[in-house]
Amino acid sequence: MIDVINLKKNYGSLEVLKDINLTIEEGEKIAIVGPSGSGKSTFLRCLNCMEDPTAGSIIFEGVDIADMKVDINIHRRHMGMVFQQFNLFNNKTVLDNIMLAPLYVANHDLRSKKIKNMLIRVKNVFRKDKEALQDISKSKMAIKKEIRDHAINLLKTIGLEDKAQVYPSTLSGGQKQRIAIVRALAMNPKVILFDEPTSALDPEMVGEVLELIKKLADSGMTLVIVTHEMGFAREVATKILFMDEGQIKEQSPPDQFFTNPSHPRAKEFLSKVL
Ligand SMILES: Nc1ncnc2c1ncn2[C@@H]1O[C@H](COP(=O)(O)OP(=O)(O)OP(=O)(O)O)[C@@H](O)[C@H]1O
Ligand SMILES: [Mg+2]
Repeated sequence: MIDVINLKKNYGSLEVLKDINLTIEEGEKIAIVGPSGSGKSTFLRCLNCMEDPTAGSIIFEGVDIADMKVDINIHRRHMGMVFQQFNLFNNKTVLDNIMLAPLYVANHDLRSKKIKNMLIRVKNVFRKDKEALQDISKSKMAIKKEIRDHAINLLKTIGLEDKAQVYPSTLSGGQKQRIAIVRALAMNPKVILFDEPTSALDPEMVGEVLELIKKLADSGMTLVIVTHEMGFAREVATKILFMDEGQIKEQSPPDQFFTNPSHPRAKEFLSKVL
């Protein structure tokens, strides 16, 4: 699904990512672990081009999304992202938070189709083999209703449909993060990237969020998760990436990584966190 090739990221003279290579297969669950400052968050932000890589390629479903000529917005739709600090819009209701991106994309697509149809109509005046028009039969209202129904169904799956009309400030951290996950799901992503999704939570709320991520994992979703929850990583991940000083120092199946890590830095890291 994703091929990362010779990815580098510098901030000024600071080399944060040094030549990262990685293949992510469909359905894989990758846990990224490593010391603070090793580049885990930067790597995740480069994966969906929230940060422009300094060099290298990120081939997502056959397209190099690190290429400046590519319209990143079209490809990024298929990559969900969940942050440590939830990043919900506090001035919007829960339902509006979930509907915002799908609505934006749907309206944008409708506009593009209308413009395309105008151009096709002009071209068809001069052509014998008339080009077919794009289908714009579905009304804005109908599109909005579909998106709303989908959002409410997603809220039902996490038992929070009664929170649809409230503002995020009235929710617990665990509820906020589960809403943030559902918001990512509303775009029907092909992969979801998580950056320490439970680090900002009170301990008693960590479980409910990890449980939801586990459910997603079981459903076959491709996941990339930066986490300090080693037990969770061991249980859910299909592969552990150990990052240190801007490099992937070790890539192994969880059992092997946690019982018999091969890189000395991984051994040292595990002796501190386990
Ligand atoms: N926008 C930025 N400008 C300059 N330096 C940055 C920027 N973002 C990150 N860095 C630096 O890049 C390095 C890697 O940071 P990053 O946040 O990716 O680490 P991390 O592995 O996610 O750490 P943590 O476990 O603490 O979240 C750090 O030295 C950090 O100071
Ligand atoms: Mg980080």
